[in-house]
Amino acid sequence: MSKRIVVAIDGPAGAGKSTIARRIAEKLGFLYIDTGAMYRAVALWALRNGSQMEDTAQLEQLALAAEISLAGGVVMLNGEDVTAAIRTPEVSAAASKVAAISGVRRALVEKQRAYSQTTSVVMEGRDIGTVVFPNALVKVFLDASATERARRRGTETGEEIAAVARQIEERDARDMTRAASPLMQAPDAVYVDSSGKSVDDVEEAILKLVRSRASNGKEVTR
Ligand code: DC
Repeated sequence: MSKRIVVAIDGPAGAGKSTIARRIAEKLGFLYIDTGAMYRAVALWALRNGSQMEDTAQLEQLALAAEISLAGGVVMLNGEDVTAAIRTPEVSAAASKVAAISGVRRALVEKQRAYSQTTSVVMEGRDIGTVVFPNALVKVFLDASATERARRRGTETGEEIAAVARQIEERDARDMTRAASPLMQAPDAVYVDSSGKSVDDVEEAILKLVRSRASNGKEVTR
C-alpha cells in the first residue's frame, strides 16, 4: 500500500521544531512546511495594513487572500520575500494574536492540507497532530524546558534572554489557552524533550520513529 506520509511536529516556541523538522524533511526527501511562518505572514500583512486585531472578519479575509509559498526555506507573501520580515518580535506577538482567530485558522489549515495533496510532508506547528492531520502517521510533541527555550530563541535573534523568556511565556500562554485549536499534545503523539539533547540525537530519535512506521517512503501495512 502506497500512501503519502505526514510527519506532524507540534510543541511550544523554541523547542527546536524548525531545526528538527527541516533536517528530518531533508533526510526523508519530504516537503518541509513551517506553519508558524504562515501565521507570521498573515500577521505581517495585518500590521502593514493597519488592521485591528479585534477585526476578526478583516483578518480572516487577509488569511483567505494571502498567497503564501514556503519553497526552499524562503517565505513569500503575495509575491514578496518576507523571510526576514516575519521574524521580528512585533510580528511574533501579532502572529500569536491572529492565530487565536478561528476564521484565520480555518483559512490557513485549508492551505496546509493542500500542500500535502501531492507529496509526503514534515509539518510543524501547534495543531498539526490534533487538527490539521489527526491521522498523521507520525506525531511528535517536541518540548524543552522554559530556560532552554528562551536561551535558544535569544541566541537565534540576538535579544536579551530575560526579555525573550517573557515574550515566549506570554505567547505560549496565549497559544495554550485560546479557544480555537490550542497548543496541546495529541493523545497518540510521542513526547520528546529536547532539553540538554543534541540536534543529532533528537533527529535520530524521530527518524527512528518514522522508520518504524514507514519503509521506503511508503506506509508500512500492518
Ligand atoms: O512557530 P512560530 O513561533 O513561528 O509560530 C508563530 C505563532 O503562530 C505562534 O504564536 C503560534 C502560532 N501558530 C499556531 O497557532 N498554529 C500553528 N500551527 C503554528 C503556529
